[in-house]
Amino acid sequence: MDPVLTEATAQIGRAKTAGSPVVHSFFDEPTNTATYVVWDPATRKAAIVDSVLDFDAAAGRTRTASADAVIAYVRGEGLTIDWLLETHAHADHLSAAPYLQQALGGQLAIGREIVRVQNVFEKIFNAGTEFEPDGSEFDRLFEDGDRFTIGNIEAMALHVPGHTPADIAYVIGDAVFTGDTLFMPDYGTARADFPGGDARQLYRSIRRLMQLPDETRLFLCHDYKAVGRDQYVWETTVGAQRVGNVHVHEGVDEDDFVSMRTSRDATLSMPKLILPSIQVNMRGGHLPEPEANGTRYLKIPLDAL
Ligand SMILES: [Fe+2]
Repeated sequence: MDPVLTEATAQIGRAKTAGSPVVHSFFDEPTNTATYVVWDPATRKAAIVDSVLDFDAAAGRTRTASADAVIAYVRGEGLTIDWLLETHAHADHLSAAPYLQQALGGQLAIGREIVRVQNVFEKIFNAGTEFEPDGSEFDRLFEDGDRFTIGNIEAMALHVPGHTPADIAYVIGDAVFTGDTLFMPDYGTARADFPGGDARQLYRSIRRLMQLPDETRLFLCHDYKAVGRDQYVWETTVGAQRVGNVHVHEGVDEDDFVSMRTSRDATLSMPKLILPSIQVNMRGGHLPEPEANGTRYLKIPLDAL
């Protein structure tokens, strides 16, 4: 086991005696995204993982109903937000992190490799001099093994590239927020065909997560209801994934996974909101500056993806 995983395993073990975080979830059906408020019951310090800014693409209208529900929960429980954690630059929803930060405070964090994602997409969007692709839109850029705390709860960033180069899984006490790596065992894994994605890296990242203790709670970024299941579910365990993940259970080797993932990805269309999402999320969720008439605009690059 690599040293970072050994540390993560030790942290998970300590959380069993020192106390687990409370995890409260919000599921956004229009984008199939799970947002989490994770908090330390001893200090009521908290983090928000992967928030959603509602977006009606046909009307070009943003709304904050989902984010306002998170704010109401945080205020109702009397929590202090220390962190706004993004697992990656999402391609399927706009992040509400700047809106939540303004209301609740906290530091906005993502993986250090976001700079690579920014560099690819600032060219696609011809973002010009108003956008510096240097990670400065975020307060903290995490690398593999970086430690932080939420009140008395220990937390660690695990770099899990593959879906994008920048994906981070957050190990918070004994709970792991997987980002886009694993989905529910009956649904499989995240796609790996976006610019900078890599199915082989995704396999290796998933195998790292699967070395954590079997009973480790995993909180997923998305759920799409596998065929034959009529409820959304976004929590599972390492053990359930090792035994039962349809794409990557124990015994599936790397080459078989890569050929399955690559051929499946070739059949998938682009996510509905990829163009709005990426150009906002590469800016840490900030909307582009208004033009002279006071209106903000999103760009649609033609024949670029
Ligand atoms: Fe994603």
